[in-house]
Amino acid sequence: MILFDEKTGIFHLRNAYQSYVFQLVRGRYLLHRYWGRPLREFRDSYPLQPVDRAFSPQPNAYENERTFSLDVLPREYPDAGHVDYRIPAYAVELENGTTATELFYKSHTVTKGKPELTGLPQTYAAEGECETLCIRLEDAKKRLAVTLCYTMFADCSILTRSALFENIGTEAIILTNAASFALDFSDHAFDRMILFGGHAAERSLERVPLTRGVCSAESRRGASSHQMSPFLALARKNTDEHKGEVYGFSLLWSGEFALKTEVEQFGTTRVVGGIQPIGFRWRLGVKEKFQTPEAMLAFSAEGLNGMSQAFHEAVRHHIVRGKYRDAVRPILVNNWEATYFDFDEEKMDRLAACARDLGLELMVLDDGWFGKRNDDNSSLGDIFVNREKLKGGLSAIAESAHKRGLKFGLWFEPEMISIDSKLYHAHPDWILRAPDYPVSFGRHQLVLDLTRAEVRDYIVTSVNHILHEEAIDYVKWDFNRHITDAFSAQMPSVHQGEVKTRYVLGLYDILERITRANPDVLFESCSGGGGRFDAGMLYYMPQTWTSDDTDAIQRLSIQSGTSFVFPPITMGAHVSVVPNHQVGRVTPMQTRAFAAMMGCYGYELDITRMDYRERETVKRHVALYKKIRETMQLGRFYRILTPFDEVKNETAWEFVSKDGREVVVLYFKILAQPAAQLRAVKLTKLDADARYEITHEELAQGLSVDGAGNPQMHLVGRTFYGDELMERGIGVAKIDTDFAAYLWVLKKK
Ligand code: DGJ
Repeated sequence: MILFDEKTGIFHLRNAYQSYVFQLVRGRYLLHRYWGRPLREFRDSYPLQPVDRAFSPQPNAYENERTFSLDVLPREYPDAGHVDYRIPAYAVELENGTTATELFYKSHTVTKGKPELTGLPQTYAAEGECETLCIRLEDAKKRLAVTLCYTMFADCSILTRSALFENIGTEAIILTNAASFALDFSDHAFDRMILFGGHAAERSLERVPLTRGVCSAESRRGASSHQMSPFLALARKNTDEHKGEVYGFSLLWSGEFALKTEVEQFGTTRVVGGIQPIGFRWRLGVKEKFQTPEAMLAFSAEGLNGMSQAFHEAVRHHIVRGKYRDAVRPILVNNWEATYFDFDEEKMDRLAACARDLGLELMVLDDGWFGKRNDDNSSLGDIFVNREKLKGGLSAIAESAHKRGLKFGLWFEPEMISIDSKLYHAHPDWILRAPDYPVSFGRHQLVLDLTRAEVRDYIVTSVNHILHEEAIDYVKWDFNRHITDAFSAQMPSVHQGEVKTRYVLGLYDILERITRANPDVLFESCSGGGGRFDAGMLYYMPQTWTSDDTDAIQRLSIQSGTSFVFPPITMGAHVSVVPNHQVGRVTPMQTRAFAAMMGCYGYELDITRMDYRERETVKRHVALYKKIRETMQLGRFYRILTPFDEVKNETAWEFVSKDGREVVVLYFKILAQPAAQLRAVKLTKLDADARYEITHEELAQGLSVDGAGNPQMHLVGRTFYGDELMERGIGVAKIDTDFAAYLWVLKKK
């Protein structure tokens, strides 16, 4: 519900989970007043205090009112270079070199539903599911108009924000900063949480006390990146997974970004987030518009899991689209770690036969099927099949999968080009490249200039051609280097500061056209693993390859970190061979399987080389997963223990089915310890009064046994009330082995 009180100027945006309040002051300025638990009514028990603060200037109209300065007031969308010294939400340069603008309130509208943002990924909802407030601000000198949009959803603790810039003057304006949102908290008693990482080590959680000055979680890589996720949270000190307040921010943007905090002189905290301003210069001609990406703002009074629930709800029901939105995902086998570039039709046929035998459902042919690609030196851009390697073409491999009842999937990396390719010889100017300087390489490849319409058309036509000619059910869309030398040969110099942003908009145009033309295909995005795991990509492709690191133990932290924003159904997770190809670790098959079951389950190893025992184990895991995957993929997910906790040695995840009738619990203990503490896993969000039967239990291999050879803790068939399972927990049998994993299935009686 969105309320506006004309007398007080209060805008109160409210749903069952949160209230967000700001105020129109003096008919001009938007001041932030409150965000937190839902309030019945905002009557202003803690009014703004007029204080004369030295060295905080007054706007011209209030020269004699020294207690009125925008430098000390909590603001909704602060300008730059005028009266407020804190970090701005936007900045411009006018033709005369001025950077000052002043935005004043002009009008507002409240509508049911949510207007579309052209060309961008966005949250969507039916009319009855949300309300949108749009506030138009205009520059006092009639040069610039900015429309701030706020959408409050009814079914989750999410508010989305974005800003639309419009040149309403007579001269061009250069936008040098255009954040999606900003707001000021009245204190700074927070911990700052970010998800940082690197290739094959994505999304580790860092939680540190919020410090004075400016901190920025950002990417300058042209993509959302492995190194930093487009996510920020401010948590109260006592907040843990299950209790306490936390404010989360996530961007629907796959390009570079900045999420900044500033704790200023009087102890307040400003948060600003959106496209990375460094290097951003967008020339807005007269009457032209620029739409910022959308940001999701989540509030939780129920700890970090509460924040994640809000994000998961938004991602699953208001971002992901298409046939697979609410559908369980097929169990796949991918040939990358099985064969790398060394495959042929015969090998793929053996893989298909084995996959069928194991009960798998989708076979994916990864990199190396096109051009003359047999290593990563050539052929990107040549999106046609390598007939020397695959004599029967893709059809023969698709056929070998389909005749066995498997779906068939194919890898693409359409945004890239190799110098050794037909495409490069035909169009050497189709790349991003700084003029006069030699090109820079990443994995021997260059980045296509997606700001050019003809490049986008080439990609759409060639990918669609393959998807229409061949029977392809799944696509893995990869992106294996970041952007450097962001210069486009066809763009006038005054527009070069737009290239990185236009690249991402160009990508979105391509993705919209391809996914729309192929509604039955399941798309998985990838960027050397999870280098572009963001809410923007999920608008087009419902799942993402979480990391190139397939080691089960690394995955405990990568997947736990990813789950702060993204639900398990969005995370590709595969069982791979041991010793693991990334870290050399040897873990039991059960541990690898249980870690992978957390996400969209699959295998990425040469299954044809497994011995009888391994094959039987895989069959058992696959059969088990098919029984519980609906709960794991479509239910609710909670972190119980993670490697980010003080005790770093354990992880426990809980999945509750949509109707609450089935609960799946996974527990991992990383290293066995002498004199180990005996433990129980305390469940959460069960029905305290209901009884739950433990119907299935898989305990760690190498488990301690009693005198009769039975595991020391054996609970199958026992029934417990929800309160006991939450307060006392499920006892974990003592473990005498490293890398142990347990699984329990509970059914509500
Ligand atoms: C990076 C991906 O993350 C891998 O899974 C694989 O597809 C390779 N690229 C292929 O080049």
